[in-house]
Amino acid sequence: MAEGVITRGTTHPNRLRRVDRWVLTWPGLRSTENPLVVDVGFGASAITPVELIERIRTVRPDSRLIGFEIDPDRVARARHDLRALAAQGRDTTGIRFDFGGFEIPVAGGARPVIIRAFNVLRQYDESEVAPAWRLMLDRLAPDGVLVEGTCDEIGRVATWIALTRQGPQSLTVSLRLRELELPSIAAERLPKALIHRNVSGERVHEFFLDLDRWWRTHAGLSTFGAVQRWVATVESMRDAGWPVHAGRTRWRLGEITVDWASVTPRE
Ligand SMILES: C[S@@+](CC[C@H](N)C(=O)[O-])C[C@H]1O[C@@H](n2cnc3c(N)ncnc32)[C@H](O)[C@@H]1O
Repeated sequence: MAEGVITRGTTHPNRLRRVDRWVLTWPGLRSTENPLVVDVGFGASAITPVELIERIRTVRPDSRLIGFEIDPDRVARARHDLRALAAQGRDTTGIRFDFGGFEIPVAGGARPVIIRAFNVLRQYDESEVAPAWRLMLDRLAPDGVLVEGTCDEIGRVATWIALTRQGPQSLTVSLRLRELELPSIAAERLPKALIHRNVSGERVHEFFLDLDRWWRTHAGLSTFGAVQRWVATVESMRDAGWPVHAGRTRWRLGEITVDWASVTPRE
């Protein structure tokens, strides 16, 4: 029995580039002896898991990927896609697709260093998030990360929670800065654990209020480009006391990452 239910399979080439780019920086990916990557709920085609492993192989060439789907037809479809990609000359070694859910049934019991579950839990109830996290974290390697998040159709707006075996660690918001009106556009693409919490009294609501405020405050920097404006926004967030991670290299990509504790839902 696979854990979970079949949901809509919508996907799109390149839509997960923002989270994939972040995953490449995960320290365990470089240090692990067994670079197994798992994509849970890859959807209607093989494209986003193939893109994920191709990106990961730029830093860890020996990595391999298993994509799990709870819909057997989508597993069959992905296997077909993979053969077609191989026929086109794409390197598909070390990539496979299997039936499975949040229990992540890796044959032989190897533990993935990266688990990506994107646009999967958004179609579940909020109360189902913690049990699903627990099931996936039980399979994760000790130095691994689970990225669980959501994005828009073409990946211009993405948010995700990074979890280690100890539980949730951070929230990242990643935005295409060109033509960005307000960063709170990301509120409608929050992971399931937070999407209903963008209301007065909740920490994540405060987060977006502040983010919008600083984005407006630094409007004058647009003359120098949206990246300058965003970097100033993130610096102001940090100076105002938000526990902001990383530095300018990440911020310049349109990212902001904060401690989970600063946005965690109130009971
Ligand atoms: C919207 S698609 C996401 C596709 C891809 N990850 C993306 O972001 O473009 C969600 C997919 O997750 C699958 N799914 C839902 N619950 C699942 C579970 N517990 N285990 C594996 N797959 C699941 C659904 O069958 C569906 O194909």
